[in-house]
Amino acid sequence: MSKPVRTAVFPVAGLGTRFLPATKASPKEMLPVVDKPLIQYAVEEALAAGVETLVFVTSRNKRAIEDHFDRVYELENELLEREKPELLERIKDIIPRTAASVYIRQSAALGLGHAVLCAAPVIGNEPFYVILADDLIDVPGKEKNVLQQMLDVYHEYDCSVVALERVPHDHVSRYGIVQPRKVDQKIFSIESIVEKPTSDEAPSDLAVIGRYLLMPEILSCLEKTGRGRGGEIQLTDALELLLSQNPLLGYAFEGKRYDCGDKLGYLEACMEFGLKHPELKEEFKAYLLKRIALLDR
Ligand code: UTP
Repeated sequence: MSKPVRTAVFPVAGLGTRFLPATKASPKEMLPVVDKPLIQYAVEEALAAGVETLVFVTSRNKRAIEDHFDRVYELENELLEREKPELLERIKDIIPRTAASVYIRQSAALGLGHAVLCAAPVIGNEPFYVILADDLIDVPGKEKNVLQQMLDVYHEYDCSVVALERVPHDHVSRYGIVQPRKVDQKIFSIESIVEKPTSDEAPSDLAVIGRYLLMPEILSCLEKTGRGRGGEIQLTDALELLLSQNPLLGYAFEGKRYDCGDKLGYLEACMEFGLKHPELKEEFKAYLLKRIALLDR
């Protein structure tokens, strides 16, 4: 019987340089897609997958994340007095009281691997998720979100699982790329993994994207991992170490990912979520159609 996955780690301590100046004083993860910040989408995904402990690995300038998930009594009273119950519902208890939130500070941006290692005292000896909020994943028409899909794979194989997506060959240098061996339609056994290879070095076009379900053994691998590409402690390098002793599966998830750490990906997400937003969709679609008609003029 595989253990339940109750903890999710949200590394939010990166510098967000691709989004400067927007991220100079406020975190990338607080960028809104229509009316919710990226980090809230990620937290809701984790809660839906049964997570009970949310671990945020933060840094300077990330206070807004803590504040966002805290209660704001003045605003709640104001909305109550103005008889706005729907708005009140939207801001209250985004994280239910049954779940615990833990904030851990990463004192220097030494890389994603280092950020995950900072959460080790909370993770203990349990499997856990790592969720990168800037990869926003939509699963229209699907019953299960991406974490729930990965959980099914984990329950079947009882090992670490990372989310995979096929990327254009000229984009491989932006990702961790795996050498896969097909197990079934969507599941791959990972033979090796390399961080940001050149297109000549890349063992495939299958990239690891921002969802991981990891066995606690990854933590001792992270302890042994030195600085890798870009001088950072890379989670990819620790995964390479892990798979020399333990199986590691890749899962080509069902859903659409928006790379919201990138300006173009972020704009695409805003557009798609705007087009399906219950309050906006009709007017926004009418605006877009009008706007597109003017594009070639
Ligand atoms: P990115 O590679 O997207 O880096 O990190 P970044 O700093 O956020 O953004 P750019 O590239 O400078 O624009 C992937 C994830 O790892 C976290 C980031 O917050 C992001 O969620 N991270 C990265 C940390 O928590 N700590 C680090 O030291 C590095």
